[in-house]
Amino acid sequence: MIPATVGKKTMNLCLILTVLLLLVIAVSQHDAVNTYSPSDADNLDVILFNDGSFKINVRGQTWLTSANMFFNSNGRTYAQWRDLILSNIDKINGYDTTGTYKQTTYTFEAGPSKVNAAVRVYDAHPIVYFTQTFENGANRTKAASPINKTISGFPSFQVKGVTTAQGPLGYLAYCGYHTGDKSKAFGIFSPTELNITDGIEFGPITLFDGSGDTLVISSASKFMSVNNWFNKDGDKSTLSYGIMGGVDNVPAGFSVDFIVYYSSQGINQAYEGWGEHLRGLYGRSDEFIRNDLTLNYLGYETDNGSYYYYVVESGKTYQDTILDVLDYAKQLLIPYRYIQYDSWWYFKGFGGGVKSWEARPDIFPDGFQYVHNKTGLPSLGHNRWWSNDTVYAKQNGGQYNFIVESTTGKAVPNDQKFWDDLLENATSWGLVTYEQDWLNVEFDKVDALHSDVSLGDTWLTQMGKAAAKNGITIEYCMSPSRHIMHALQTNAVTQTHASNDYIPGKDQWEIGVSSIFAYAMGIVPIKDAMWSSTIQPGNRYNKTEPNTELQLAVSVLSTGAVAIGDRIGYSNATLIMRCCNAEGLILKPSKPATAVDDQIYQTALGGHYSNGVEGHVWTTYIEVGGLKFGIIFVPDIYGVYSITPTKAGFRNIMTGKQMMVFEARDMRNMSAFSDQAPLRISGCIKSKPCTYHVTPVLTQNPSILMLGELTKVVPVSPQRVTKIDVTGNDVKVYLKGVPSEGVYFTFSIDSNIVTISCTFGNSRTAVLDVTAKTCQ
Ligand SMILES: *[C@@H]1O[C@H](CO)[C@@H](O)[C@H](O)[C@H]1NC(C)=O
Ligand SMILES: *[C@@H]1O[C@H](CO)[C@@H](O)[C@H](O)[C@H]1NC(C)=O
Ligand SMILES: *[C@@H]1O[C@H](CO)[C@@H](O)[C@H](O)[C@H]1NC(C)=O
Ligand SMILES: *[C@@H]1O[C@H](CO)[C@@H](O)[C@H](O)[C@H]1NC(C)=O
Ligand SMILES: *[C@@H]1O[C@H](CO)[C@@H](O)[C@H](O)[C@H]1NC(C)=O
Ligand SMILES: *[C@@H]1O[C@H](CO)[C@@H](O)[C@H](O)[C@H]1NC(C)=O
Ligand SMILES: *[C@@H]1O[C@H](CO)[C@@H](O)[C@H](O)[C@H]1NC(C)=O
Ligand SMILES: *[C@@H]1O[C@H](CO)[C@@H](O)[C@H](O)[C@H]1NC(C)=O
Ligand SMILES: *[C@@H]1O[C@H](CO)[C@@H](O)[C@H](O)[C@H]1NC(C)=O
Ligand SMILES: *[C@@H]1O[C@H](CO)[C@@H](O)[C@H](O)[C@H]1NC(C)=O
Repeated sequence: MIPATVGKKTMNLCLILTVLLLLVIAVSQHDAVNTYSPSDADNLDVILFNDGSFKINVRGQTWLTSANMFFNSNGRTYAQWRDLILSNIDKINGYDTTGTYKQTTYTFEAGPSKVNAAVRVYDAHPIVYFTQTFENGANRTKAASPINKTISGFPSFQVKGVTTAQGPLGYLAYCGYHTGDKSKAFGIFSPTELNITDGIEFGPITLFDGSGDTLVISSASKFMSVNNWFNKDGDKSTLSYGIMGGVDNVPAGFSVDFIVYYSSQGINQAYEGWGEHLRGLYGRSDEFIRNDLTLNYLGYETDNGSYYYYVVESGKTYQDTILDVLDYAKQLLIPYRYIQYDSWWYFKGFGGGVKSWEARPDIFPDGFQYVHNKTGLPSLGHNRWWSNDTVYAKQNGGQYNFIVESTTGKAVPNDQKFWDDLLENATSWGLVTYEQDWLNVEFDKVDALHSDVSLGDTWLTQMGKAAAKNGITIEYCMSPSRHIMHALQTNAVTQTHASNDYIPGKDQWEIGVSSIFAYAMGIVPIKDAMWSSTIQPGNRYNKTEPNTELQLAVSVLSTGAVAIGDRIGYSNATLIMRCCNAEGLILKPSKPATAVDDQIYQTALGGHYSNGVEGHVWTTYIEVGGLKFGIIFVPDIYGVYSITPTKAGFRNIMTGKQMMVFEARDMRNMSAFSDQAPLRISGCIKSKPCTYHVTPVLTQNPSILMLGELTKVVPVSPQRVTKIDVTGNDVKVYLKGVPSEGVYFTFSIDSNIVTISCTFGNSRTAVLDVTAKTCQ
């Protein structure tokens, strides 16, 4: 776990002078000022003025300056320094589950509405909260653009270029659907270069200068009810956070929170700290993830990009096609453990939405239960948005409460019983994971979801509760950031698509950046389906997949689904089995592989950053029995990049042991790996991606290294290795596997490569003795 706090305060003279100077300026401008500096978060200062304006400083330099706050009420906008009247300021010292804090609350009259704007700075955490409360509610609040704007703005920030000692401030913004991947944006934080999708598809924004100093800005509560709004207006540009623009009525006492989180240790660390704080706050647990069959085992997919997406074997029904796929897999000993059934099996209604989530008789002539019985496998069931003619709605003669919109042609359930019944009914055909796709369309296109402040929360909470009741997990697809953050409150949501639907040969595998966000929220990022062989004749996409190894490696390293969408007769079993043990258990790393900070700095800051990398460099680690192993995965790179353990994010795995590094195809060529001995990387391309393994020296004399099961993407994993005993110069490795499964485990002993073979018996365990070169 990453501590939520950062190192000791180290204020130098220069910094103190800067702060003093700021105080002088501030006092002359705004009468009075308070500076709050979280004591453990050395470099962060929040400076509050007595009119409610503020600055956020990093190492004494102002990164964020407030702009006018505003609140809508009674058909108009009340803005700071115009007609928003400050009536009270209240300062308290408080305490909550995060720790002690200092909070300043400004109370304003926005016409008939009494609103509070509070700033809370934690004493020992690099965390600032901004809270808006509509004390007595507000009427007629709707913004000019319900989709893109907000009805309130606090915090509001000026968007203007900031130059630190390192150079200009850059940004990364998660925007749009697929976990903020679809329209994610990078660049210089300035009015001309900030280019984000705001409004209902907004997401967390990160500011950085390349030195490690990083701020993350996001919502922190009521995730389905808030937006940001980038008002692009030259020097007067602002970025405001508030309740979404479509809301026309705010109930009394309604309050929303936003957070600014600081880290001195780069983007990955900032997200981990930010995520750890929010997960703690909402009690997010990974229990559903650990037990999620579709995350732990190999599966077969019929999603967009798969061969059998709205396509069947000639002269066969879908039912027979699915059964034939499994017969073929049996011949090749490919142990699929579940089947994903995409949108082709149920009834569509108006505009292509879901009319009835029941199997169509022309698709499954003998019914879904029959198919489930025949396959003997659990199901991952896809679903879309609801059409306004859905049979479940009372308006259409059904049994359940829905909001039905003939203006949009869509509907949204508003009934716990509906979700309970829907998912319980689906357990009869083996549903273990419910895939809610088109989350952006359902939210963005149903008016009620952005005019009602609580409907979005109700919708997802009911879905999540029903899943939990039925022991089912939820996979999000086409999800904007708001839904991902809402899942902090919905533990049954275990996985999310982190990029576009799979298209053979395309760059849909680029999930290294969106995985940072998903991982922070405690949700597993998934890559979607893949083909295991290049040519799949007659496919509907008229495409080939030249980078099958890359596809498999990304799937495994995501820690999410490994899901094959091959045509019958066109699977490469050797490649597929690089993911898993003999019964399809995925051998995976301890966290999703994520893009290194240098990749993001380079993309955002370009020529302003000199140590970047062009292309993709992702890292992850594996923790096994107290030992840690690293993986540096390089799918694609231009030029040469020199990476150290610190740049790889491996601070936590360099635990005093000497580390060595080797490329998976070239294990005889090993180098020491430390901040003094970086690894130089070049020549990795999509058709031949590089995987560097970082492994500890287990004993000195002889020098023993465990390279592991080199036929697998992850050669040492907790799914295979349960314990590593190092006593003196003796190394024993405890393994688990499947009866009659054979495993080759490789070691380097004084630079000699030694491979020891093991075969598991009915005990499913084996002990490998490196000195004796035996395995029993
Ligand atoms: C909102 O409208 C209701 C009903 O007309 C009224 O009772 C209430 O005072 C209004 N609230 C505000 C803050 O204007
Ligand atoms: C919202 O912004 C998008 C571009 O981001 C624009 O195409 C659209 O017209 C805007 N909608 C409204 C209602 O302003
Ligand atoms: C903003 O981003 C969009 C989509 O990512 C891109 O098409 C457009 O060119 C960008 N605009 C600027 C000014 O960079
Ligand atoms: C599925 O199998 C169960 C028990 O094995 C049986 O009771 C049921 O009738 C079968 N259903 C179908 C539709 O084949
Ligand atoms: C659904 O919406 C469409 C388009 O808005 C409308 O034409 C149709 O009558 C609606 N159907 C029902 C059942 O409400
Ligand atoms: C669940 O099944 C029952 C019994 O067949 C049926 O009456 C009900 O409509 C179904 N509900 C849903 C939401 O599928
Ligand atoms: C299938 O995936 C492609 C590429 O991601 C996308 O352009 C297309 O819209 C998707 N089709 C459907 C029906 O979702
Ligand atoms: C399929 O792709 C090939 C090569 O890209 C192209 O020559 C051919 O015209 C395409 N066929 C169809 C039906 O689009
Ligand atoms: C199958 O995959 C393996 C492992 O990537 C590869 O070595 C082999 O060439 C592939 N076989 C075919 C027929 O492409
Ligand atoms: C392997 O050998 C090359 C030179 O042939 C060297 O550049 C590289 O750093 C070596 N180490 C690793 C881990 O690949």
